[in-house]
Order: sequence, then structure tokens, then C-alpha cells
Amino acid sequence: MKIAIGNDHVAVDMKNEIKAYLEAKGIEVINVGTDSSDRFNYPVSGYKVAKMVAGGEVDLGVLICGTGVGISLSANKVKGIRACVCSDPYTAKLSRQHNNTNIIAFGARVIGVETAKMIVDEWLNASYEGGRHQVRVDMISEIENTQHLNAAE
Ligand code: RB5
Repeated sequence: MKIAIGNDHVAVDMKNEIKAYLEAKGIEVINVGTDSSDRFNYPVSGYKVAKMVAGGEVDLGVLICGTGVGISLSANKVKGIRACVCSDPYTAKLSRQHNNTNIIAFGARVIGVETAKMIVDEWLNASYEGGRHQVRVDMISEIENTQHLNAAE
């Protein structure tokens, strides 16, 4: 398993903790975020991780900024990305099982590192269920690909 991780300047410490936590599980982690506390624009990391996930360079991505919002919005602009901001492990698990998320995001100013670890664990241990959920995930792709949704007419 290979994971890309990205962050902005407010999430350097949490990024380092989560990176080490994942590596201790034997996961290869590629850090494309900043390692400095100097101001850093989160779309840069969001975009880099998203491109690596969408291009198949890594299996999954983890993004962390102050709230997780800006960095996940940036990632979601890349075709094929389903990034979700989570502040709780239940949402993280269901986002994988039902929505087939390929990037998880959270906020270093919102949750603590132990919650972040639980979120990552639940997310990684869950599997996409497909079946009835595939219809809806396909509809998300239809919107992305065509800027249109036939079922909404
Ligand atoms: C940086 O101040 C902050 O805006 C950023 O980390 C993030 O919370 C944006 O969504």
C-alpha cells in the first residue's frame, strides 16, 4: 500500500505524526506537503496528492490543513477524485464503504491527533461495497464528466 500525504503550514506536526503512524503499519508514505511553518497555499498540496491518486501513482491520499476544507475542495477538482473531510471515524468508514472515497482529509485545528489516527484506521480498514452504491458513485462521475445529470431531469 502506497499513500501520498499533503498539508499546509498549520498541519505540519499532524502530518508528521500521521506519516509516522502509517509507516509503522508498513505503509509507504510519500510526503508532498510542506515541512515548514511559513505560509503555504493548501491547493498546492491538494492538487499534488490528487494527481498522484488519480494517476495511479499511489493507492490513496491523506490531506490535512486547518479545517480540511480548502485542501479537500482543491483535490476534488481533479477528475476521478472523491475526497471527504472527516472529523469522526464513523464518517470516514462509511465514506469508503458507500462513496468509495480515495482521499481522506481532516483539520489540524479541528481534531486531535488521536482522533486523526482513528479516522485513518477506520478508513483504511473499510472496503468499498459497490452494489447499490455504484449507481450513485457513477452519477457523481456523470456530473464530473458532463456537467449534467440525466437522472435529475
Ligand atoms: C490557513 O490559515 C487555513 O485557511 C487553512 O489551513 C484551511 O483551514 C483552509 O481550508
